[in-house]
Amino acid sequence: MSRPLFEAFPRLKERIPFLAIAKLPTPIEALPQLAPNLWVKRDDKTNSLYGGNKIRKLEFILADVLRSGKKELVSFGAIGTNHGVATSIYCLQMDIPLQMMLFEQPVTPQVQQNLKLMHRFNAQLHYQGSLFKTAAKFYLGKWLRGRDRYYLFAGGSTIQGCLAFVNAAFELKQQIDAGLLPEPDYIYCPVGSNATLAGLTLGCGLAGINSQLIGVRVAPSHIGPIPACTFSTVRKLQRACYQFLCDLEPRIKEHKLTKFQLMDNYYGDGYGHASKEGEWAQEMFEQAELELDPTYTAKTAAAALNACANSPDKKILYWHTYNSANVADIAAKADLDSMPKALQGFIQEPVV
Ligand SMILES: Cc1ncc(COP(=O)(O)O)c(C=O)c1O
Repeated sequence: MSRPLFEAFPRLKERIPFLAIAKLPTPIEALPQLAPNLWVKRDDKTNSLYGGNKIRKLEFILADVLRSGKKELVSFGAIGTNHGVATSIYCLQMDIPLQMMLFEQPVTPQVQQNLKLMHRFNAQLHYQGSLFKTAAKFYLGKWLRGRDRYYLFAGGSTIQGCLAFVNAAFELKQQIDAGLLPEPDYIYCPVGSNATLAGLTLGCGLAGINSQLIGVRVAPSHIGPIPACTFSTVRKLQRACYQFLCDLEPRIKEHKLTKFQLMDNYYGDGYGHASKEGEWAQEMFEQAELELDPTYTAKTAAAALNACANSPDKKILYWHTYNSANVADIAAKADLDSMPKALQGFIQEPVV
């Protein structure tokens, strides 16, 4: 199965490892019940078993893992990481052992469900406490064992993860050309580990989409002293991916890098903490039967809704990145007794 990025630059197809995992293109829908100038890109439907933005990334990441010949994958995320769930599902299918290092976040029913799912799909889970400690252990492990294990940054935000969203922009361009939506003035997406925004921004430039990309920051800007989710970290990943592509296909050098914005004012009390505006967006989107999560999509959708109201003459595309497949039955089958004790505590914690 091909992808629009490879149709535009056929040389890349021979040079970039890729596995078809996602069901693409994802639909575009207008949301007139919420705003006359609002459209949604339904990346919740990237796969019927488990969707969301991580499935796109895994098409390039897992192909790269197989290419590397390394026998094990190590990654990290919060205890409710969607990246961990998606990765554990496909690692199990491809027989790749997965170690997930986990850090704390506010416990919600969605977080508990994701913990159960990762365990159910055989990921080896290691609770490390704080984000700083987890990241430090990840990099130490990479330094010591990186030769025989594939170390994957949180959220799958590597050049391979970024390529997935370059491709996604080409997919959007085909949908605009087919008249499924007008070219948006603004595209809103969440920004956690950076690859979704970095890839979309790069891809829109390459595909000739003139929209302004607006990322909504939902993760801490720094891990200790190290920048992790800032304008510069997104731009760095965008540039690294651009350079990677230029090395494989010199024609890409003809394209300039597109600008983007990063909004900080929807972050609220922190990563994983629900915000008032996010709760308002969750209620609004229920009218369109779209479930938003408090960590990523609620805050982003709030920003998109406000933009619709403040700029009624502008066309806004909200890129929806949260899985919508019902996985409650699968999560219920997790054998909790065999889960590490520290994590069992999070499952037993009462939540509203
Ligand atoms: C549902 C959801 N939306 C958005 C994001 C953010 O994407 P990125 O990590 O590429 O910035 C994530 C993961 O981090 C996610 O799980």
